[in-house]
Formats: sequence, C-alpha cells, structure tokens
Amino acid sequence: MQALLLQCLSFPLTLLIVFLLARNGASLSYADFALVQGIVACAMTRLRGLAVWWLGIQLVFPLALTGALKLDIPPLLFLGLFLFLLALYWSTFRTQVPYYPSGKWVWNEVDQLLPKDKPLLVIDIGSGLGGFTLDMARRRPESVFVGIELAPLPWLLSFLRARLSASRARFVRGDYDNLDLSNYDAVFAYLSPAAMSGLWSKASKEMRPGSILLSYEFLITEKTPDIILMPTGRGAPLYGWHF
Ligand SMILES: C[S@@+](CC[C@H](N)C(=O)[O-])C[C@H]1O[C@@H](n2cnc3c(N)ncnc32)[C@H](O)[C@@H]1O
Repeated sequence: MQALLLQCLSFPLTLLIVFLLARNGASLSYADFALVQGIVACAMTRLRGLAVWWLGIQLVFPLALTGALKLDIPPLLFLGLFLFLLALYWSTFRTQVPYYPSGKWVWNEVDQLLPKDKPLLVIDIGSGLGGFTLDMARRRPESVFVGIELAPLPWLLSFLRARLSASRARFVRGDYDNLDLSNYDAVFAYLSPAAMSGLWSKASKEMRPGSILLSYEFLITEKTPDIILMPTGRGAPLYGWHF
C-alpha cells in the first residue's frame, strides 16, 4: 500500500519535472515520462525507508505499465487477473500472511504429537486450500478438524474439496481473530513472522489448560516453545506450546 501511495505521490512531481524539461526545449516520450516517474518514486521509496527490493519494483513499474499498454491487452484480462488475485490473497496487505501450503512432512509430526486417547477438536487458523485439515480428518476419524480461512477463493476450494471427498473436515470463512480459542484442544498455525506476536497475545489469554498451540516454521519470540521438532525429510521446525 505504501509503495502504491508513493507511486501516486510521485506523479505530480513527475509532471512538474516533465513540464520544466519541456519548457526548456526537451521533447519527451511516454517512455521518458515513465522513466522519470520511476526515478522519482524510487527516490521517495528510499526516503521512506522501505525494504531495498522495493526500489527495483518502483523504478520498473511505470515503464512496465506503459509497455503493457502498448501490447493492447484487453482490459477485461487485467480485471480478471486482479479479481483472481484479490480472491486468493484478500487482505494479505493487512494480515501479512499470504497463502503457501504446508505438507505431509509436518502433518506427520502433528499426528504424532496430538494425543490419541481421546477425541479432539482441532483448528487450523488460516487453512488455505485445506490440505492440513483434510489430511488430519482422514487420519483421525474420532476427532473433529476445522479450518478457518479469510480469503474467499482458498476457502471455497477447501469447502468443495471436503464436499467432493465426503470428508468430515469443516471449513469456515472468517478471521481467526474473531474466534474463541478456548473451544479447541489444539490450534495449528502456519502464518508468518508478522502474525506471531498477535497470535501469542490471543492464545495466552484464551487457550485453556491442557490444550496445545502448534506453529509450523514461525516462532513466537515472547515465549520459549515447549516442543521443537524437525520434521523428517524436509521442511522447517514445528514449534509447540502447552497451556
Ligand atoms: C501460509 S497459509 C497456510 C495454509 C494452511 N494452513 C496449510 O498449512 O497449508 C496461511 C493462510 O492463512 C490465511 N489467513 C491469514 N490471516 C488470516 C486470518 N486472520 N484469519 C483467517 N485466515 C487467515 C491466509 O489467507 C492463508 O491462506
């Protein structure tokens, strides 16, 4: 959002620079205009202190945009692509947790960790396409596995996958921030570093004694984990906290 805002803010400054250059006899093409816009946006991005890789994006973006206009691509294609990405990523700009799947190597570890002597209610917070929830529901028919997902497209696909495979897994569309985690015996999270502090403050208030919080790959820095497992074969560590 900041990068986009900086591009917008660069536009009037670019207009001014181009106007002054034109007054001094320079004849500028659209590509020159785009280059000036890119340089101005790049400088503003540097001043704002965004990560260094944004500089390249900011410089190339206006040139890529004018280049793409020359290709005469139907606007509907852009709209379609935009709507697809919106449905897939939804409010990632706010949560900073995009979709990427975990895999069997970590699900095997979770299966080993969860108690086998009683039925459990387990939730995957940010369930994506539902891989974890569907797989665990297959392995543990005595327990209930629920996935909650904010982005509409992954949620819809996980819901359909459950329907088509007659799985007992349930998928809810919503924000896990609005859940009461005290209802669950185990919470599985595969989020991002940006989400972990918020998750800890929620989990530490809500999770009930005897329950367990599992996070694949991302550590909660506020609290030392009780469990650190390196999944066999491949993948990142699986962390666990007992309550
Ligand atoms: C890294 S993916 C993990 C997918 C899945 N848990 C797995 O292991 O394959 C994280 C997912 O969390 C979703 N997400 C992010 N913030 C969320 C929130 N506040 N509530 C519900 N889902 C969220 C994202 O849309 C994304 O699909």
